[in-house]
Amino acid sequence: MFLLRCIDKKKDILFMITPEQLQTIEGLFQQGDQDTALKDYKNLMVDGQGSYDIWVNYAAFLFRCGQYDDAIMIAKKSLEMQFSAEGFHNIGACYDKMGRFEDSIAAYKKAIEIRPDFIQSHHDLASVYEAVGMLDRAIDHYQIATTLSPATYSYWCRLACARQVAGRFREALTALRFAYATHEDDQKTLALYAALFNESQDFEYDAQLSKELVNCFEASGVNKKHLVGMAGKFVLHPALIEGLTAPADLYNAVDYSKIAQDVPLNWEGLNASNLLALLSGQQILEHIYELRLTALRVHCLKHLEQDNSGATLWNNALVFINALACQCFINEYIWTETQEERDLISRLEQRVIKGENLTLYDITIYACYRPLHMLPRAQDLLNKLAEIQIISAMVTMQLAEPLCELALKQEIKTLTSIDDGISKMVKEQYEENPYPRWISVERAKEQSFEALVHFMFPHLGGDCFSHINSESPRTLIAGCGTGKQPIVTALSDQGYDLLAIDLSASSIAYAQRKTQEMNITNIEYGIADLLKIEELGEQFDFIQCGGVLHHMEDPIAGWRALDNVLKPGSFMVIALYSDIARKSVVAARDFIDLHDYMSDPDGIRACRQAMVALPDHHPAKSVTQWADFYTMSACRDLIFHVHEQRFSVLEIKEIIAGFDSEFLGFNLAEDNCLAEYTKMFPDDPRGLNLENWDVFEQVNPDTFRKMYHFWIQKPC
Ligand SMILES: C[S@@+](CC[C@H](N)C(=O)[O-])C[C@H]1O[C@@H](n2cnc3c(N)ncnc32)[C@H](O)[C@@H]1O
Repeated sequence: MFLLRCIDKKKDILFMITPEQLQTIEGLFQQGDQDTALKDYKNLMVDGQGSYDIWVNYAAFLFRCGQYDDAIMIAKKSLEMQFSAEGFHNIGACYDKMGRFEDSIAAYKKAIEIRPDFIQSHHDLASVYEAVGMLDRAIDHYQIATTLSPATYSYWCRLACARQVAGRFREALTALRFAYATHEDDQKTLALYAALFNESQDFEYDAQLSKELVNCFEASGVNKKHLVGMAGKFVLHPALIEGLTAPADLYNAVDYSKIAQDVPLNWEGLNASNLLALLSGQQILEHIYELRLTALRVHCLKHLEQDNSGATLWNNALVFINALACQCFINEYIWTETQEERDLISRLEQRVIKGENLTLYDITIYACYRPLHMLPRAQDLLNKLAEIQIISAMVTMQLAEPLCELALKQEIKTLTSIDDGISKMVKEQYEENPYPRWISVERAKEQSFEALVHFMFPHLGGDCFSHINSESPRTLIAGCGTGKQPIVTALSDQGYDLLAIDLSASSIAYAQRKTQEMNITNIEYGIADLLKIEELGEQFDFIQCGGVLHHMEDPIAGWRALDNVLKPGSFMVIALYSDIARKSVVAARDFIDLHDYMSDPDGIRACRQAMVALPDHHPAKSVTQWADFYTMSACRDLIFHVHEQRFSVLEIKEIIAGFDSEFLGFNLAEDNCLAEYTKMFPDDPRGLNLENWDVFEQVNPDTFRKMYHFWIQKPC
């Protein structure tokens, strides 16, 4: 930050500049006429005249105009009049802006030498140290700034961030708590907590942290995924669920007898709202928590045999079971079931269908095992339960939303027939298991299509859009699945004119419900095989096809179909599976073939149970760490797909060349990936050489775990 001085008006007016003149110049500057403002200011300044203050302000004005060299020169002049910390500070600020960090550091240090309690210099010096990666020094100076000005919220935030980046998580939490003390509901503070929890779950349970976590869950701007690990650790902490931690081999032994005994559960813990938020809104992606919750579910089911009023279960058990039913619906009932549970469930199902003497415990515990919308007369059940607040999350998720999708499904337009054999099999899979069953999306930055392309590929000139409608690009999402891609695109800019197609009507119905819920109006959906996209007689400015072509009999034929409807000069984003990154998936598919697991829910459950029990060195074991392992449709998509192919970078290079398209670059999942690549290949700073990427991937086999995700441009 550049520092200004308050001008002693009376004194300075005598020299040369009146407040009116200054105001006029400021007015010009505000109106955007920077050149005239600068010229006028320069004319007013007469060398050798004026006070120290006025030269400091002149330097500040030059700084605001981005004239850093001149600002430094004037700041130096002010130093001749008065050897001050401010003068050095201002020089430091200019050098910082110019990227001359060493000079900036030297100037700030000089300022601090003159005035050791100069808060702003400590803060800004810390920020430069941070920029050059000297984190420990940055932390030292942020710390001094917070000591000198403990009430300044932003200093605590900066200190927390720097400590977090340095991996000093506990200290980061301490700093964050000072910020939280004064800005408890501030979105920025809560987002910082979330980022911290995402990086580390190395914190012990305490009531304060639990409160902070709950606040994060309730904040709208926070990415809830960052909280799941931490919440899972807290709410399913052994101290909160005593007795359920011992049978770690529960999955394999499938012996729930220990749990059937009335184990001393800490129900207060179970009802903590962070657990409920976790269970009702997010997927649980850790095996240990899955085990514990599976155990709790069976506990509830068995209890129901003795007492269907739930009176002897525990206080507020219904709140917890409602959330558990949401979680089971989200993961599509992927958790293991024993034969005993199945017998109990089928008896319970008879009672639920009959509808006699039912309690809310009967319905909610049933909903922990089977989806309510599949029951006969589901609409009547919805009408009956709709007003009951305590189970409203479950009723919405298991009845209202699926019934809405069923209605929407009837209205989806069919744009092409589906005749290809593999397309038919793929359709069947995604009709049964639409994927991904997402709950919330992380919004992309709001920006127009043009801004996005310029941001991603700054090297493309302004004329790169000359052949297409880049203001309102007609955009095809080929294989839109459950709508994540079109929705994220539509949310980033209203200018898009989107057509989203897929083979699966169930997936599109899911997408349409989400689209309506989010009040999005610029997406049109239709059932179509992308192989036949030319039948629509349209040409597109932009096509996205993510995770689709590798499920086709002939991916190149699919690619060609898309290329044929792409206007010359327009853009396409494609995502394809990497052979190298999916080694463990291939091993898992071999394991499935060997043991003949079916791709139905029972087969998937049995296979998961067996895979969890594999020794760590087994080539398929690491698949159990993938997020997709934890829900039914995702697990089917991951390791049971009816048809998948994989590619290498060199194959992709050849296909792109075959279409005469230009490779524009990868969308890389990890921020530091391009930096690592350029360390290896300094001659290719934009990462455009696919042969180099092939070498890089051999050395870093996880680089494209989330697929090869790349942009191409069709020649004009
Ligand atoms: C793994 S999902 C990906 C969905 C979406 N692109 C995303 O990333 O969220 C693959 C989708 O491609 C669709 N699909 C596969 N082959 C297709 C084809 N020939 N035409 C249209 N859609 C297809 C499937 O129905 C499925 O919904």
